[in-house]
Amino acid sequence: KAGRMGERCCAAVLRVLVLQAAWALSGGQVRYSVPEEAKAGTVVGRLAQDLGLEAGEAEARRLRLVAQGRRASVEVSGASGALLVSSRLDREELCGKSAPCALRLEVLLERPLRVFHVQLEVTDINDNVPIFPAARKNLSIAESSLPGSRFPLEGASDADIGANDAYGSHSPVGARRRNDGGRHLWTGTMDLVVILVLDANDNAPQFNQSVYKVQLPESAGVGTLVTRVNATDPDLGSNSEITFSATSFIPPSGRNVISINPNTGEIHLTAALDFEEVSVFDFRIEVKDQGTPPLSSHCSVELKVLDVNDNAPEVWVTSLSVPVPEDASVGTVVALLSVSDRDSGENGRVRCWVWPASPFGLEATFAGSYSLVLREALDRERVSEYEVEVRAEDGGAPALRASRGLRVPVSDVNDNAPAFAQAVYTVLARENNAAGAELARLWARDPDEAGNGRVSYSVWDGGVSVGGGAAGSSYVSVDAESGRLWALQPLDYEELQVLQFEVRAVDAGEPPLSGNATVQLFVLDENDNAPALLPPAGSAPEAGVVAAAEVVAKIRAVDADSGYNAWLRYELWEPRGKGPFRVGLYSGEVSTARALDEADGPRQRLLIVVRDHGEPARSATATLSVSLLEAAEAALAAGSSAATNVWLVVAICAVSSLFLLAVVLYGASRWAPRAAVLSGPGPTTLVCASEVGSWSYSQRHSRSLCVADGAAKSDLMVFSPNFPPPPPGPAPKDTQPEPSALLDTVTLSKRHLYPSSQRRKEQEREERGKEN
Ligand SMILES: *[C@@H]1O[C@H](CO)[C@@H](O)[C@H](O)[C@H]1NC(C)=O
Ligand SMILES: *[C@@H]1O[C@H](CO)[C@@H](O)[C@H](O)[C@H]1NC(C)=O
Ligand SMILES: *[C@@H]1O[C@H](CO)[C@@H](O)[C@H](O)[C@H]1NC(C)=O
Ligand SMILES: *[C@@H]1O[C@H](CO)[C@@H](O)[C@H](O)[C@H]1NC(C)=O
Repeated sequence: KAGRMGERCCAAVLRVLVLQAAWALSGGQVRYSVPEEAKAGTVVGRLAQDLGLEAGEAEARRLRLVAQGRRASVEVSGASGALLVSSRLDREELCGKSAPCALRLEVLLERPLRVFHVQLEVTDINDNVPIFPAARKNLSIAESSLPGSRFPLEGASDADIGANDAYGSHSPVGARRRNDGGRHLWTGTMDLVVILVLDANDNAPQFNQSVYKVQLPESAGVGTLVTRVNATDPDLGSNSEITFSATSFIPPSGRNVISINPNTGEIHLTAALDFEEVSVFDFRIEVKDQGTPPLSSHCSVELKVLDVNDNAPEVWVTSLSVPVPEDASVGTVVALLSVSDRDSGENGRVRCWVWPASPFGLEATFAGSYSLVLREALDRERVSEYEVEVRAEDGGAPALRASRGLRVPVSDVNDNAPAFAQAVYTVLARENNAAGAELARLWARDPDEAGNGRVSYSVWDGGVSVGGGAAGSSYVSVDAESGRLWALQPLDYEELQVLQFEVRAVDAGEPPLSGNATVQLFVLDENDNAPALLPPAGSAPEAGVVAAAEVVAKIRAVDADSGYNAWLRYELWEPRGKGPFRVGLYSGEVSTARALDEADGPRQRLLIVVRDHGEPARSATATLSVSLLEAAEAALAAGSSAATNVWLVVAICAVSSLFLLAVVLYGASRWAPRAAVLSGPGPTTLVCASEVGSWSYSQRHSRSLCVADGAAKSDLMVFSPNFPPPPPGPAPKDTQPEPSALLDTVTLSKRHLYPSSQRRKEQEREERGKEN
């Protein structure tokens, strides 16, 4: 460009023009106009206001221009939201000869994302000086030329448009004539050297057309024949020999694109054409003969370049707001895209779509602008990131395609509550577990991310609890992080059989979500309780005559455990073998196994072991002391006046104390006078085994024992006085034999004993009776 306007002279003009910058809001589009060459900082328009933004909103919402492929030369001022000129705007560079020169700008606003379109018209100022093809030219004029003869000059060219363009107004030769029609007038000058020639060459060569119009596709290769110009000169000889030359190229780059054969007038391409760069070449052809002076004439050639689909569409991501929260509503704008194709017509008409088709879609917002919007609800737990491809295809034949990939991550929202694997957990726990022992491991699934999926567990006492209404949190605890359920204390089956409580899982989201589960904890019995011999209790039974004493005593014991662990069996430990007594295996009834005789001695000491069926079994021992009394003593002891042959005085006292103590007592009983009720020193508690219900009496049995004297005689049972029940001692749990014993004393009448012969006779009689 030859001429550049001085800062000084343009300023005044600009100020006027800027004030006149017009804008209009039509169809959502703001229009401004600005003269080219406006100074940087010149306000083009109050963009923020024209878009209806509040003061300060432009900065808060980051009002800005979308960067397009080329330099915009304007910018949005952050503070004021005004559109300013940022760098040199040259209309001729932006738009060439085409008018009007309208730039399409995209303006972006965030939160929420919005895009506006602004049309900026760059108006022409007369900033280009007309140019003569040459600064100096020799003009040959025949001597015979008459006054008024016209001599054509190659025209000056001007890059400006409209009135600012002087091109085409060929002027007759004159002295420094103004030849530029703009308001601010510019002149070009040419020095003419006039040479007078005497010889006559009275015919100038003539083109057969004044304008040659040619069209070539931009794909035409180097060497392609553009056209052929034809000129004729009716003179003879050298006066009719003509040569062609090309001048006055617009744009000037045309000089490199074509060449003309000076002799044939054939014009060929010497460089590749590009419709997108230059769509029309204008130039002039001069034809000159060889006369003296030579005569010449001009024609113009207009070479129109035809578009070929040689540009693929271009897809630009102008704005991308990611990640997209998974709860984003349908219609949320994820990205703004700008699609363009440098070709024109169908070749530049671009069709766009997104692949895969869901969950995003494309919405055209303006010519060449698209929004990538959400078409379906997202779920980060299903797909946490999308690879989206925006594809574009133009309408040329063949069509050209382009695509641009977008990564759209989805951000997590706390939309999943923790869920336990089971609604009800059944947990079996052995009793006597060590405190802290793991009972179970609970797990709740929360597919959310990070804190939204970080679950913490707790025992929740707000839930329903059964099993005696025990609060779960007093027995068990759950590790907040791992979900490990553990016992706070050793569990005791005898205290608690079932515990039901709720467990909660809460995530760390905002707000947190929770899930729950019920835990049913069953405590499994362990054989941790030895049988306990029940001390006789209650009031002293009335001493009386009872029937024959096959059942002498009944050992009563209980076991705090359950099931097999509490199922008791009674065994006579001492004396073994042929002793006169036996014990019911499960009833605990001590009965005479045979009739007693003198040989059995005055005293019998029975050691009975009570054992449960646990694994391992636990046991307790009871010692029963049986004394044989003379009938008279028995009667005395019984306080009964009835004369009977057989007296059975039974005194059973229970001792519930340490085994050692029981042994001591047992020894004492051995040395004590006959029929003396056992008594121990100190805290030893003697309890008569005559508690109600602990004895079985049977008239039927008495008969078989007492039939010897012909009259049915009832046995007399004399019970020792009652003693207070034993204090609850420490439960025997760990050792065997159990340090607990029951020492019973049974006193039997000596008269009860038959001589062997007599007994035999009686037996025979009994058998006979049975036979009858
Ligand atoms: C014009 O003529 C003069 C004298 O003959 C010569 O020196 C000069 O080069 C010529 N200029 C052009 C542009 O032909
Ligand atoms: C120009 O056209 C004439 C007839 O119109 C023809 O005779 C002549 O050969 C042509 N010249 C060239 C250079 O093609
Ligand atoms: C001028 O001459 C060219 C080349 O010979 C020819 O193609 C064209 O048709 C001619 N134009 C006219 C109007 O005769
Ligand atoms: C426990 O969760 C279930 C759903 O899993 C819910 O229906 C119930 O109300 C919850 N119970 C409590 C006590 O929160």
